[in-house]
Amino acid sequence: MTLEGDQALRPLLDVIRIDANLTGTKEGCRSGECGACMVLVADATGTKGVNSCIYAAAQVHGKRVFTIEGLGTADSLHPVQRAMVESRSAQCGFCTPGIVMAQIAARISAACDEGSTEIDVQAALAGNLCRCTGYRPIIDAARACRTVPLSGVELEKPSDQPTNPLLCRGQSTTVYAPADLPSLLELRRQHPDAVLLAGGTDLITAWRRSMAYPPQVVVLGQVGELAQIKWTDHALIIGAGVTVARAVRCLISEWPEAAGYLRRFGSPAINAVATVAGNLQTASPVGDLAPLLMALSASLMVKSTVTHRQLSLPEYFSGNRATVLAADEVVIAVHLPRRPPAFHLFAYKTAKRFDQDIAAVTLAGSFVNDGGTLRHVVIGAGGLANRPARASAVESVLENHAFDTARIEEAIAALAEDFQPIDDVRGSSTYRTQLAGNLLRKMRLEYTGAGLTNLWQ
Ligand SMILES: Cc1cc2nc3c(=O)[nH]c(=O)nc-3n(C[C@H](O)[C@H](O)[C@H](O)COP(=O)(O)OP(=O)(O)OC[C@H]3O[C@@H](n4cnc5c(N)ncnc54)[C@H](O)[C@@H]3O)c2cc1C
Ligand code: FES
Ligand code: FES
Repeated sequence: MTLEGDQALRPLLDVIRIDANLTGTKEGCRSGECGACMVLVADATGTKGVNSCIYAAAQVHGKRVFTIEGLGTADSLHPVQRAMVESRSAQCGFCTPGIVMAQIAARISAACDEGSTEIDVQAALAGNLCRCTGYRPIIDAARACRTVPLSGVELEKPSDQPTNPLLCRGQSTTVYAPADLPSLLELRRQHPDAVLLAGGTDLITAWRRSMAYPPQVVVLGQVGELAQIKWTDHALIIGAGVTVARAVRCLISEWPEAAGYLRRFGSPAINAVATVAGNLQTASPVGDLAPLLMALSASLMVKSTVTHRQLSLPEYFSGNRATVLAADEVVIAVHLPRRPPAFHLFAYKTAKRFDQDIAAVTLAGSFVNDGGTLRHVVIGAGGLANRPARASAVESVLENHAFDTARIEEAIAALAEDFQPIDDVRGSSTYRTQLAGNLLRKMRLEYTGAGLTNLWQ
């Protein structure tokens, strides 16, 4: 299918349902939260499940899209569809196509296979809501799907990769899709006002709210250099366009303590497309990656046709949803020093719901234990200021001291020097300050090995 001009930024869901008249894919929340619109998208790197309501048509340029109609027929169901029927997982069936897609995506990504636990099965469906059946039969089907063979059709890849940098010129919007970093930087130089579209999970919901598209958009998905992950002896370098799902796997391999925290990022369909740089560039005060990456002493590598800078994370955020990135610059990677000996890391996200919720407060802390004395203390926090920030007064209280009860109470008192949180729907100022203090206490208790109940486990 070819889309002309201004059509390229429309949600893929509308192209599927309205233009292609394939109405098996459903529309629910239209904001990436219910999974009813999920389809499979395949490119040379593999197949993944995406929420088509927050995926622009331009993002599937040169890719293959599988809707529910392409998987099986009433006479010959796809094995996952059959498992759903056999477990009686549908009443109205509105959520069913999305749930089938989520289960296939989980099989392909190995998030669910024969070794998967009950928690893995439920995590694979965290982004799919059902309004009427009830989850027990759906989870029964998901359990059965751990071992059913896939049909193979969903693994077919497109044969060639597009290389043409200009994708679409319409009356009010021009969309570019550069194929490599030099072309991207050159486009950025020529069009500093153009909006960079990475996973689109933030931008496309914003465009829907404002009901307007920007005049120039640069789609980043084909820039291979941004999707690379490199390990050196001293650092882990995660490309700006690496998805949250891939980044989480590397982060957990070096810092397994972060697994519980990262498990609460989005849903599989969000994490399959949301990117690391997209998360940081939104500079959301409650974005999940920033506090953790601060505690890991991350810096951002930023480039234009003439500059190449490396910026530490706190200095990158300049205000509420603002960064120091210049108009002609692009974030190209996140640089993380590898774990030193005796390094300790703690990371906490507090939100009203376990899955798919925006945090009230996040806190991540790290230090090196030098014979009982804390060195190189870093505390990153979200939800306490107008941007993700480091708690420098708390860090000074803890630095070069033993981590004892008196010291932690002094550190909690220092929180007031670092932050004066606001009241909003997710928590009052008093609640947020008290919560942050309790998270510091929890950090010490975990460090000393005190028995704490982990409700998730
Ligand atoms: C249902 C749902 C659940 C979510 N859950 C979470 C969650 O649990 N935790 C959380 O922190 N966030 C969450 N988010 C927010 C969002 O998904 C993330 O912030 C995501 O990482 C944004 O990445 P993206 O690639 O989709 O960004 P995009 O929407 O493509 O872009 C976001 C911003 O980053 C800029 N940008 C992207 N790449 C670059 C680059 N290389 N250089 C310079 N600028 C760049 C864009 O121009 C834009 O300004 C959620 C969103 C949705 C819709
Ligand atoms: S319609 Fe709900 S996630 Fe797309
Ligand atoms: S079966 Fe009706 S919404 Fe799930």
